Amino acid sequence: MSSELLTALHVAYIQSLGKSTDDLVYHLTAHLRLNAIYWGLTALCIMDHPEALERDEVIQFVGSCWDEKAGGYGAHPAHDAHLFPTLSAIQILVTYDALERVDIPVVVKFILSLQQPSGVFAGDSFGEIDTRFTYIAVNALSLLGCLDQLDKDKTVRYIKQCKNFDGGFGSCIGAESHAGQVFVCVAALAILDRLDEVDSETLGWWLAERQLPNGGLNGRPEKLEDVCYSFWVLSALSILDKVAWVDTGKLTSFILSAQDPEKGGIADRPGDMPDVFHTHFGIAGLSILGYPGLVDLDPVYCMPAKIIEKKGLKKGWKALERQS
Ligand code: FPP
Ligand code: ZN
Repeated sequence: MSSELLTALHVAYIQSLGKSTDDLVYHLTAHLRLNAIYWGLTALCIMDHPEALERDEVIQFVGSCWDEKAGGYGAHPAHDAHLFPTLSAIQILVTYDALERVDIPVVVKFILSLQQPSGVFAGDSFGEIDTRFTYIAVNALSLLGCLDQLDKDKTVRYIKQCKNFDGGFGSCIGAESHAGQVFVCVAALAILDRLDEVDSETLGWWLAERQLPNGGLNGRPEKLEDVCYSFWVLSALSILDKVAWVDTGKLTSFILSAQDPEKGGIADRPGDMPDVFHTHFGIAGLSILGYPGLVDLDPVYCMPAKIIEKKGLKKGWKALERQS
């Protein structure tokens, strides 16, 4: 078990993912390919290795995921457009300063077409609704500079209805609080400048209670700890300026203990197989915890803070001071 972040190994692990096209896992995860590139690229940026992937190759791959008929991006060439890979495409292109590749009016039309009369968003034309998709739509519209085209009151009204007695939020009206949904609702409200809808003290306690004796965080009461919740919980706490409400030293040790010391990458918990999702969210969590040598992550957009600042989109949030 390593007590330090194995940066060089994680960089090599992420680089290796695009090359292992013979692996069954590579093909089984085709429905998440564009998301995986966003997770890998963002983790590399936070480790200060933004050049570790071939920029032109990645930009070209993003273009090949364009679904002309729908006017959005699919997760893989020839896949139907969906909001989730559409956000990942936009995040990748913003990170590479290549947003001129996007047909902005067409994508904005696609995103807005998925808002339902209740105010929530569907992920695609098949209609699964979830506050995750609301966050994705709000984040994407904001990155494209088109948030003014959104009916904000209608959007906020739905999020507000998902708030529970414990201060948390669920995936839809009546659903139990879940730390992932808390992140998406709080971050969407932050982008929409409507954090007045959050019961900060009650929610802060609920989030702090996600920490288990081993230092890891879970997503709901009675569930196991999982590295990705380091981000879902910490990002919400940092937006509420309450990161110090968890034992940050123990959480840092927990994330580091889930690293694979041989092949690189971070797993959901110690001893499990690493994957790019948990590698990304583990490193994102460490950035918010002020881990030395990392680059600042914007917890609202889940992208490098400098890029969001440069676009003039920075909202209020507070991470721990970076240790030297
Ligand atoms: C847990 O899922 C996580 C969530 C519900 C939040 C998901 C958030 C998004 C898809 C938006 C992410 C976008 C960015 C830019 C960060 P789970 O299905 O693993 O839940 P479980 O642990 O209860 O199984
Ligand atoms: Zn997880």
